[in-house]
Amino acid sequence: MSTNKDRTFDVVVVGGGPGGYVCAIRAAQLGLSVACVEKRGALGGTCLNVGCIPSKVLLQSSHHYRTAKEELAEHGVKVAGVELDLPAMMGRKDKVVADFTKGVEFLFKKNKVAYFKGAAALTGPNALKVSGEDGEAELTAKTVVIATGSVSAPLPGVAVDEKTVVSSTGALALPKVPKSMVVIGAGVIGLELGSVWARLGAEVTVVEFLGKILPPFDDEVSKQMQRILEKQGMSFKLAHKVTGVTAGKSGATVSVEPVKGGDALSLEADVVLVAIGRRPYTEGLGLEAAGVAVSEKGFIPVDAHGRTNVPSIYAIGDVAGGLMLAHKAEEEGVAVAETIAGQAGHVNHGIIPSVVYTHPEVASVGKTEQELKAEGTAYAVGKFPFIANSRAKANGDAPGFVKILADKRTDRVLGAHLIGPGAGELIAEVAVAMEFSASAEDIARTCHAHPSLSEAVKEAALDTAKRAIHI
Ligand code: FAD
Ligand code: NAI
Repeated sequence: MSTNKDRTFDVVVVGGGPGGYVCAIRAAQLGLSVACVEKRGALGGTCLNVGCIPSKVLLQSSHHYRTAKEELAEHGVKVAGVELDLPAMMGRKDKVVADFTKGVEFLFKKNKVAYFKGAAALTGPNALKVSGEDGEAELTAKTVVIATGSVSAPLPGVAVDEKTVVSSTGALALPKVPKSMVVIGAGVIGLELGSVWARLGAEVTVVEFLGKILPPFDDEVSKQMQRILEKQGMSFKLAHKVTGVTAGKSGATVSVEPVKGGDALSLEADVVLVAIGRRPYTEGLGLEAAGVAVSEKGFIPVDAHGRTNVPSIYAIGDVAGGLMLAHKAEEEGVAVAETIAGQAGHVNHGIIPSVVYTHPEVASVGKTEQELKAEGTAYAVGKFPFIANSRAKANGDAPGFVKILADKRTDRVLGAHLIGPGAGELIAEVAVAMEFSASAEDIARTCHAHPSLSEAVKEAALDTAKRAIHI
């Protein structure tokens, strides 16, 4: 640890993930003296190192592989001898990750954020001890921001060795394509990483405790997406729970039981991916020494401004609860930095888009139909299938639909749910519209380029008033 660094800061951020590093940069932009402490040896947190970015690299690469093998012929493009070079695919992933993590280090230098490599522990409401490879340092902070993120939730009784039984981290670095893979959990990780290995040749079976895949998503989206993924070769055992996993020398046996009773069964797999959610991470953080309260599930409760029960300590991102998404963590990082600097930082937690980067993509923002029904809001549904969208059809990539939900009384857009090509990009239009409290008619009367996938959003908006043109 260098000894010549100033050890007193306006803000010390613990954790260099998307919540922490963005908060540090924004606070520095606002003229505060800032340090960020990160213990993994690289900036970017779960997202850049073992989450969003490596998974999206492998999703894109595996999509190219499947397209070259199975889909180009339809376009009159003949390719022979398509082969998988898994080490090259993994090497590219590692390079993209390294470029980004170094990029964040550059941004720290540019913004004069002091970067401490090591593990931080609070020793009081305004004091921290950092222990790293280079020794120890005591830091003093007017304000501390906790951004320590989350880790994979363990399945009781199941040991993860990151070889045969893997978490998402192991599933991002398998040395060869397994013949068979059992995925426990039909959530976002299960479907994204299950898709990667299915495209590369594994037989993938997904076991899900609840009765639908992607449980928090709109029911119609879950149902149609399941059918699409089944067509791609994935199989699902819904309403089944895993009661045990026994790892042997070459694979594992997964014991499964129907949730509502019935015959137990065993599934054999070369690799088992445990993807049943993530839990907040606060190990060794010294929360007790600083008097910071934690919830029963280990999250750090915060008020609408990100403040914990200790006035000088804030918490953001996965560790603070809510949606465990990188962009939600980033928004909270910005808002908390602005609040600390005396500005009116704010996050609209009702308008945070969620995207599942399968092919086709799934995207959602705002309320689902089941949520609107439960709260008794009268709503209109507008729906448009991509098969009727000229760009999707021209591209030869037209599964799915756009569904827009609007308030029946005011026409205000309340939610949007998409399956389809580019859904992860298209959802931004609806999120912006919702931030401006737009009506479905506002979207419908906005001129959209032709031919474009975004016309499906416009047509779904028109359909809330049953006046879509192309269906
Ligand atoms: P993290 O990114 O977890 O960062 C916390 C950092 O704090 C870590 O680097 C950790 O080392 C450090 N730390 C912890 N304790 C200490 C300490 N005491 N001292 C110093 N440092 C400490 N989200 C999306 O929005 N889009 C996606 O496509 C997406 N894909 C994902 C794919 C996978 C496989 C996974 C696992 C997650 C994915 N996520 C995605 C979720 C996303 O990664 C998280 O929501 C996001 O990283 C949370 O950011 P954070 O800053 O709160 O925490
Ligand atoms: P998840 O919460 O999305 O899904 C977990 C699934 O496992 C749920 O469907 C749940 O019902 C099921 N489950 C729980 N216990 C089970 C059991 N014992 N047996 C069978 N099924 C069980 O969690 P996941 O997929 O692990 O991802 C964690 C988080 O990471 C996500 O919630 C998301 O916030 C984030 N993430 C986001 C991505 C994105 O934005 N594209 C990509 C990957 C992760």
